[in-house]
Amino acid sequence: MKVISNVEIEGMEKIKSGKVREMFSNNNEILIVTTDRISAFDYILPSLIPLKGIILNQISIFWFNMLEDIIDNHLIETDINKFPKYLKKHRDSLKGRSVIVKRAKIFPIECVVRGYITGSGWEDYKKTGMIGDLKLPPNLQLCDKLPEPIFTPTTKEISGHDVSITINKAKKIFGAKVVDYLKEKSLQLYKKAADYALKKGIIIADTKFEFGLVGNKTILVDEVLTPDSSRFWPLDEYAPGKSQKSFDKQFVRDYLLSTDWDRNSEPPELPEDVIEKTTQRYINAYEVLTGKKFEWK
Ligand SMILES: Nc1ncnc2c1ncn2[C@@H]1O[C@H](COP(=O)(O)OP(=O)(O)O)[C@@H](O)[C@H]1O
Ligand SMILES: [Mg+2]
Repeated sequence: MKVISNVEIEGMEKIKSGKVREMFSNNNEILIVTTDRISAFDYILPSLIPLKGIILNQISIFWFNMLEDIIDNHLIETDINKFPKYLKKHRDSLKGRSVIVKRAKIFPIECVVRGYITGSGWEDYKKTGMIGDLKLPPNLQLCDKLPEPIFTPTTKEISGHDVSITINKAKKIFGAKVVDYLKEKSLQLYKKAADYALKKGIIIADTKFEFGLVGNKTILVDEVLTPDSSRFWPLDEYAPGKSQKSFDKQFVRDYLLSTDWDRNSEPPELPEDVIEKTTQRYINAYEVLTGKKFEWK
């Protein structure tokens, strides 16, 4: 099995190299390749997690298909056998981990939905009792389930952290109609997915969606409901009042916290057993969510 960190496709322009994915395009389509890179505490780690990119890509495809009744998405081709001929020689680097999608004009707003209170939402709530312009019930504990899922968008920053934005401000920038639509769709998508995952024993605490325009039609883009764009918690270990174990990155975080890494410099390599256990976690997430056995040759 080939572990993939960096991908180059001759004849195609790399339009973006993110923390985890690389995007290539020459025209109105994009080839998205999900690598085996992993990030933690905002750093890309020097170690790779075998199969992670494949599993993340497959999880995203699974959700795109399940959620198609709520909104159309950017997928054009997910089967490598049907990719254009000129990609044939990159088969080993692309197989399972890549999709060809419609190139959309992205709304520069991250459509965050939270069903539980944690992370930056918790920090805001502790200070003000609110997240964005939403007033929340008093006496919530860390990681409590919210009475209803909430829409708490952020801006998309080119570099640095995304900044939360009130719905009113978003409406001033994008127009009320657009924001209402993105909010409605985001909440519908989250609710359907979170209900489904909960039955399988996974809490999707929060997630973020991105939308874009193709012509004058709004579609769902990017990745959806992967452990990289969402917080997945194991339901059987859920206990509010403290921070929760991450479904996928717990071994990585625990290990990093056990070292003397100062979280302000190059992170250390992960030991082999942490890498193996983390691959197993991703396989487990895939199998639990999709109900399919993960088989890879
Ligand atoms: N269909 C699409 N059309 C245009 N841009 C897209 C599409 N899908 C995703 N993107 C953009 O691709 C970029 C992926 O980069 P990034 O999120 O930094 O990667 P990663 O999540 O791997 O770190 C995002 O800016 C996202 O908006
Ligand atoms: Mg991203």
